[in-house]
Amino acid sequence: MNSSDVRRKYLEFFAARGHAVVPSASLIPDGDATTLFTGSGMQPLLPYLLGKPHPAGKRVTDSQKSFRAEDIDEVGDNRHTTFFEMLGNWSFGDYWKKEQLSWFFEFLTNAEYGVGLDPRKLYVTVFAGDEQYGIPADHDSVAIWKELFASSGVSDVRAVELLTEERASTVGMQGGRIFYYGAKKNWWSRAGTPDKMPAREPGGPDSEVFYEFESVPHDEKFGKFCHPNCDCGRYMEIGNSVFMEYIKTEADMFEKLEQRNVDFGGGLERIAAASLNNSDIFTIDSLGALVSVIREHTISLSTQSVRVIADHVRSAVFLIADGVIPSNKDRGYLLRRLIRRAVLHGAYLAPSGFSKFDILVEKVINLYAVVYPELQNNREHIVSIFVAEERAFSKTYQGGVAEFERMIASGNSISGADAFLLSASYGFPIELTQELAVQKHVIIDLDAYRAEVDRHRELSKAGAQKKFGGHGLLLDTGELKAANEDELRIVTRLHTTTHLLHRALRMVLGDTVHQAGSDITPARARFDFVFNRKLTPEEVASVERIINEVIAADLPVQKIVLPKSQAEKTGALYFFKEKYPDPVSVYFVGQSIEDAFSKEFCGGPHVTHTGEIGHVRIAKEEAVAAGIRRIRAVLS
Ligand code: SER
Repeated sequence: MNSSDVRRKYLEFFAARGHAVVPSASLIPDGDATTLFTGSGMQPLLPYLLGKPHPAGKRVTDSQKSFRAEDIDEVGDNRHTTFFEMLGNWSFGDYWKKEQLSWFFEFLTNAEYGVGLDPRKLYVTVFAGDEQYGIPADHDSVAIWKELFASSGVSDVRAVELLTEERASTVGMQGGRIFYYGAKKNWWSRAGTPDKMPAREPGGPDSEVFYEFESVPHDEKFGKFCHPNCDCGRYMEIGNSVFMEYIKTEADMFEKLEQRNVDFGGGLERIAAASLNNSDIFTIDSLGALVSVIREHTISLSTQSVRVIADHVRSAVFLIADGVIPSNKDRGYLLRRLIRRAVLHGAYLAPSGFSKFDILVEKVINLYAVVYPELQNNREHIVSIFVAEERAFSKTYQGGVAEFERMIASGNSISGADAFLLSASYGFPIELTQELAVQKHVIIDLDAYRAEVDRHRELSKAGAQKKFGGHGLLLDTGELKAANEDELRIVTRLHTTTHLLHRALRMVLGDTVHQAGSDITPARARFDFVFNRKLTPEEVASVERIINEVIAADLPVQKIVLPKSQAEKTGALYFFKEKYPDPVSVYFVGQSIEDAFSKEFCGGPHVTHTGEIGHVRIAKEEAVAAGIRRIRAVLS
């Protein structure tokens, strides 16, 4: 079965059982400041697990786009990817274990409206309990699983206590079908095991289903005996039913949530791979198509590099579609790392590098456009952002690799200064240099590298201060330190101007516009934003007119300090919310925050009334990078 069949059948199966099919949320978490990316189906649904009524009802099913940066180094084997689609079905205080486990088992084993897996190839795990927190073992699930297996003709269903991976690899499976493991394996929360969870974090025991690939022999490198959670690849996890009924208290204990929830998550591609009885998920339709494009245009057959490129390009496409652009921090940095890492692996495949990234990007968009319309809607933007980053890096990376070779020729280590040079002059993220170092068996002095980064940061700060007559001016959003009062007043007027500009751009060009950076000196405000074409003269004129109308209306500019979660609810714009303190100040232009013309998270300072700005002129509109425009605004 290919992955689109699995996705369709799964959603239909749960729709037929009273679930509303809801679309995937963005990869950029909305209102969840705990992670940079959406890494599971439950994150966007957290409020409903905590009791808020879901508009679609108590039963919901979806296929959620997920990105896990922490798996980046695992990519290259037959089953890890950074991006994946997580099939989900949800009970918000509705059905419980019996329905959940029976339905999932039915979906997996039914050949007509499910996947048709052989039940004898399925093995399951359950929670063994946690003594420290007094949480009991999940014997209920064991009883349900026993019945399910028996009813499908699998006899002699035994439950075995394995508890930890270490123990499991020394005692083996002992002919079991159901296995008890501790919290490390069979407890789910966003933060991990119960001891790692902060207060007010929900979590619960889970029950995972594994598919056995009989063609994969156990590898003793991973332990004497194989078992479901062994890393040799013989058993692959294909679904996880979380019984989310607990919440951690301030007193480091657990109590029951007001409602019992089911959070099921299953890897779409893994289920498709199981349906083909092929342990390599890179052979299924979607990833397989990407692998073919790469192979067509390269000579080396390094499976690992082909997989890395296929995975990273797909992740990059989805991230760009959700508004991420390459940069040196946070999400943008990860995107940059993915693209640059793909370029490096391309170099392993062909002497002059893999040069068909544009074709590959288009392929990803075509493969997923029907299910995820944001890809189709942003096609040009995605291609141009990706290709711009890829081309820029491709130009320097060969020089960087040559430099790296030169550095290690005289010894077997990379100094802090060397690593810094590679990053500053050749654009090598430190992780790439580390990767090269591992390949070449050389050591990097990471502490010295970090010290070097700090030293340069200080130096460039000092440099910037010099540029503005010994006083730092605005270097980044929100932070102002000005020289003398006159300059401060001008910069403050321009700072408020950027807020008006941001809003006016969104009014004229649509809400996809968002800030990508800003820089203000007494001479002008520079404002960068995400948009993929040149503005027409009419659009520039409209933006300018709106700004000057708001200035003429002399609206008050006010500040309100709110807890971050509440501030987000006001609809205020922000850059990267991780950047701001909690509580955060929101500046708004207007009589009240509800009907404000503009509202943004910001450190200030701002004028007190828009009339103080005077008159604004847009002096220039130009491209700074693919997909990013820059406006220069001056007071006139
Ligand atoms: N939250 C669980 C997971 O991510 C199941 O959806 O594995």
